[in-house]
Amino acid sequence: MARTATLTFEGKKIEFPVIEGSEGELGMDISKLRAQTGLITLDPAYGNTGACTSAITFIDGEKGILRYRGVPIEQLAEKSNFIETAFLLIFGHLPNQEEALRFRRRLTDNAHLHEDFKHHFQGFPTDAPPMAILSAMINTLACFEHKFLKIGDNESFEEAAASLISKVRTIAAYTYRKSRGLPYVYPDPNRRYVSNFLHMMFSRPYQDYHVDEDVEDALNMVLLLHADHEQNCSTSTVRMVGSADASLYSSAAAGVCALWGKLHGGANVEVLEMLEKIQTSGMSIEDFLKRVKDKSELLMGFGHRVYKNFDPRAKILKAACDKVLAKIGIKNEPMLDIARRLEEAALKDSYFVDRKLYPNVDFYSGIIMKAIGIPLNMFTVMFAIGRMPGWIAQWREQHADKSTRIARPRQIYTGPTLQDYVEPDKRA
Ligand code: SDX
Repeated sequence: MARTATLTFEGKKIEFPVIEGSEGELGMDISKLRAQTGLITLDPAYGNTGACTSAITFIDGEKGILRYRGVPIEQLAEKSNFIETAFLLIFGHLPNQEEALRFRRRLTDNAHLHEDFKHHFQGFPTDAPPMAILSAMINTLACFEHKFLKIGDNESFEEAAASLISKVRTIAAYTYRKSRGLPYVYPDPNRRYVSNFLHMMFSRPYQDYHVDEDVEDALNMVLLLHADHEQNCSTSTVRMVGSADASLYSSAAAGVCALWGKLHGGANVEVLEMLEKIQTSGMSIEDFLKRVKDKSELLMGFGHRVYKNFDPRAKILKAACDKVLAKIGIKNEPMLDIARRLEEAALKDSYFVDRKLYPNVDFYSGIIMKAIGIPLNMFTVMFAIGRMPGWIAQWREQHADKSTRIARPRQIYTGPTLQDYVEPDKRA
């Protein structure tokens, strides 16, 4: 029997259908609310509002569960790699051998940038924020890859998806090289995704460059942990822009801009700066947490709109820190020690416990990226590289849904009521 929710307003009872998701989540369908009652809902940060149904990622924030297409994140982190996970998110299943080979070939064939791209890099100052360059250069892809501005079929979509996932990595590496005055390193067709990224970032011309397998595995895991997270701020931005039938590039570039925010993907930089500030100031953990409780600071990397329990990604990253640092030969990382002490103190403190504030994905990710040698100002770029498959998957799902309409929220107006124009000589 179909479930409904009843709204009583001004003596009128209106029934709204209740839909149930595959994991038992319930949503009241209010698409007829305004027509039937004249009311709209008001939910400024959309904390109670579902924008869509989706079959890509499931999160249970109370239990700390995260699954990509039903596969637990813990299993993917242990057994999969970034590109296989990207395929799973975008196409809905783990690739068979032929699909994996075809997707890898598309990534390899699309790794390079048009030679004229370099002129655009030349225009940026060496201290330009990498996320500003990234969003600009993803938009610039639209100037060089007209064929992907209108995606007509699965074949061109798969090519466009592979191209964007591959090129975002090249753009990131070139951004880093330009900022250091280093020559660009072309993608190496014989390297796998992460190894190729590290090669383009750190290798020197005319020298062999070997990627440590443990580093490659660690970065594969960091990227796949970031690959999707249902309707977060940047993904909702991608969907919003995509709903206007804007191109995949415009939507992804907009996603980069939203992710840059320090409350979102930009938090991974803020966490390291917070840890470094505690270390250099000599401030005690207790003193710092006091500042947080006085609301003079945020405990960056803590808290989440959905997780009211441990972010499962933070658990995996925390466990990986020791292993990765040991394998890279880093015996003592003071940032990890401070992070651990902060977490331990916060999780015993009623201020954080009562507000259900736990470490999120950004709390430990930077420690691993720092150990790998990724510069601090590139941390959020790494988040964007990781999230690109999720944005593409969500954009594709929205475009495939024939009921998709342009997103256009309403408002409640609270400004001046009707008033006439005042001639300049009659104004106060
Ligand atoms: C990501 O949405 C996603 O899925 C995002 C993400 C993804 O994969 O896409 O998971 C990635 O963005 C992770 C979040 C990274 N951001 C940070 O680490 C920044 C620090 N965190 C906070 O800014 C905050 O926790 C948010 C933004 C993450 C969530 O904010 P909410 O849901 O709006 O929480 P809130 O502001 O309503 O907080 C409730 C209470 C408030 O205190 P009171 O008003 O009740 O006294 O908790 C406090 C807040 O002040 N609080 C914090 C805090 N986070 C919330 N206090 C100190 N430090 C914090 N980090």
